[in-house]
Amino acid sequence: MSDPPAIEFQHVSKTFGNRKVLVDVSFKLGKGEALCILGRSGTGKTVTLKLMDGLLKPDSGKVCIESEDIAQVGEKDLSRVRRHIGFLFQSGALFDSFTVGENLALPLHRLDKTKSSAEIQQAIEETLKRVGLDHDKDKMPAELSGGMSKRAGLARALVLNPTLLLADEPTSGLDQITASEIDNLLIKVKKDLHTTLVIVTHDVRSARRVADHIAILDQGRLVGFGTASELEKSDNEVVRQLVSESCI
Ligand SMILES: Nc1ncnc2c1ncn2[C@@H]1O[C@H](COP(=O)(O)OP(=O)(O)O)[C@@H](O)[C@H]1O
Ligand SMILES: [Mg+2]
Repeated sequence: MSDPPAIEFQHVSKTFGNRKVLVDVSFKLGKGEALCILGRSGTGKTVTLKLMDGLLKPDSGKVCIESEDIAQVGEKDLSRVRRHIGFLFQSGALFDSFTVGENLALPLHRLDKTKSSAEIQQAIEETLKRVGLDHDKDKMPAELSGGMSKRAGLARALVLNPTLLLADEPTSGLDQITASEIDNLLIKVKKDLHTTLVIVTHDVRSARRVADHIAILDQGRLVGFGTASELEKSDNEVVRQLVSESCI
């Protein structure tokens, strides 16, 4: 590979108190690829995403984003790296007292001081169009359905045109049809914008639709990494179970 990987974990471990949450996790993800992380609750999926965004630091090992070890860089360099990362949190977490459009304006005002008001409005409108919410800019979050809230959260994560999008359970709590619409949107973002995607999900159907690679975490260990059909042949039973459609 001539290009550096978008993400590389090298022997990453993370402990909270005496609880080992991640143990010696290593993998690489190429630019423009989609990785889905599957695993039962409490196996370190969200912690893995937070390590990628520099919100947490590993106790040992390296977390490299385009070859830069982000646990080692200073505040200023970390901000520069994070400027290119969009994060859709598990909760979605729009601010209730702001409209959808105002929610999208927040990261633009905070992180991209070069844009004029007109450019900010244009970025907001383009991004809302991308997620199919072009008529919902002035709605309050309480007026949105579950699927629309996820789309709005996704729009906020995308408004700065990130090269890396991290999404924590973007389809949880949605019915299958709405969930597959979100999956299609993620696939489209990857295709149109060449964004690298890392998606945490409980839903193996989503993972099979969206992922180039699936990572399986079990009790903090990376017990599987590969395509769905490779993982189906794993000799680890947890991997086979999590990747098989029949377990849903
Ligand atoms: N900031 C934190 N402080 C202490 N423990 C944490 C923290 N973040 C996560 N944990 C613990 O790490 C484990 C894995 O959490 P998490 O990555 O959120 O799991 P999941 O795979 O469900 O996303 C859990 O036991 C959780 O309680
Ligand atoms: Mg989680």
